[in-house]
Amino acid sequence: MLQLNENFLNLNQNYLFSEIAKRIAEYTKANPDKTVIRLGIGDVTKPLTNKTIEALKEGVSHMSSADTFRGYGPEQGYEFLRNAVVDYYHRNGASIEADEVFISDGAKSDTGNITDLFGPDNDVLIPDPVYPVYMDSNTMSGRNITFIDSNKDNNFTPMPYDGLKADIIYICSPNNPTGASYTRSQLKEWVDFAIVNKSIILFDAAYECFIEEDIYPHSIFEIEGARQCAIEFCSLSKTAGFTGTRCGYTIIPKELEFKAGNGENVSVNAMWNRRQSTKFNGVPYIVQYAAAATLSEEGIAECKENINYYKENAKLIAGCFDERNIKYFGGINSPYIWFECPNNMYSWDFFDYMLNEIQVVGTPGAGFGKNGDNFFRLTAFGSRENTIEAVRRINGMLDKM
Ligand code: MLT
Repeated sequence: MLQLNENFLNLNQNYLFSEIAKRIAEYTKANPDKTVIRLGIGDVTKPLTNKTIEALKEGVSHMSSADTFRGYGPEQGYEFLRNAVVDYYHRNGASIEADEVFISDGAKSDTGNITDLFGPDNDVLIPDPVYPVYMDSNTMSGRNITFIDSNKDNNFTPMPYDGLKADIIYICSPNNPTGASYTRSQLKEWVDFAIVNKSIILFDAAYECFIEEDIYPHSIFEIEGARQCAIEFCSLSKTAGFTGTRCGYTIIPKELEFKAGNGENVSVNAMWNRRQSTKFNGVPYIVQYAAAATLSEEGIAECKENINYYKENAKLIAGCFDERNIKYFGGINSPYIWFECPNNMYSWDFFDYMLNEIQVVGTPGAGFGKNGDNFFRLTAFGSRENTIEAVRRINGMLDKM
């Protein structure tokens, strides 16, 4: 008789953003006359840049002619895009090589899929609160998860401590959901911890393009020693508005090796290459072609205009908390503003309150872990018009609370 993977029974019933979508759908069905402003899921609203669109069109034209048509591509991604990622890293001050880059359909998939490479008995260290994908993927594979408290006492940047035990360590910086970032020296402490403990750091850099202060690294590979202990995941979703276009990359240094039970040193890069060759057929050629153009200097300069637009939104949202001396995190090197719910409300109650009272949607911190119970996340990815209107409504609501 078929046996199910019963680890799935240990997951929360709904994925966070599906639950939010469900509540909005119920509300709008019951209140069709109300205009709901969505600052919940971190989904971009600006269209793709001209450079990206032109490259997409060119990619399509290649597919229409027999001499430039492409069928199956390399599972690791086209060389031209792997080189474009390498150039992008070099411009940001981190040194990587093309055969360390694996093109993916986004950071979400690979931060989950990477767990294929690790045995079931590893201890997984996950900050609480956290992007739910890390926890859910490891719950699905039945691994033991330890949470490290990320809270306002440690400015949402928890650090290794004596006696900490971890084989697999997830770090997201700038962080989703808290907007907090690790400085170079803090990240160096995690790298040193991982090297001493022979653990691996799974570093999610999906929000690196929002960093504006030099004390925060864009890549873990700017940190000495990281090539021996870390994998980095990133994507064009937030950098270039690819949330619907889908393209990301995973960087696995060639010197990243661990000892197998038989004493042999095994390359993680080679393992992932083997895994991808079997289970992945790559990202569409057209998308990869456009992604390469997007990562060029000219392409990134255009993307920066959109990122600056979102940063202005972040300032508008943060301004409303500054005026009231309400403590918040993020908003500068991050598109997220993470703040304590007024009157210490439970965040799902605050979610319902905001939806019912002012029709503004955010993300309840409880959806990211227990340390998020009384926190709330707003995103700067809305349109300027909606952000201004949301801030007006939030100010009105806070005046009454
Ligand atoms: C979020 O809102 O946390 C993100 O948009 C989710 C994601 O990137 O998958």
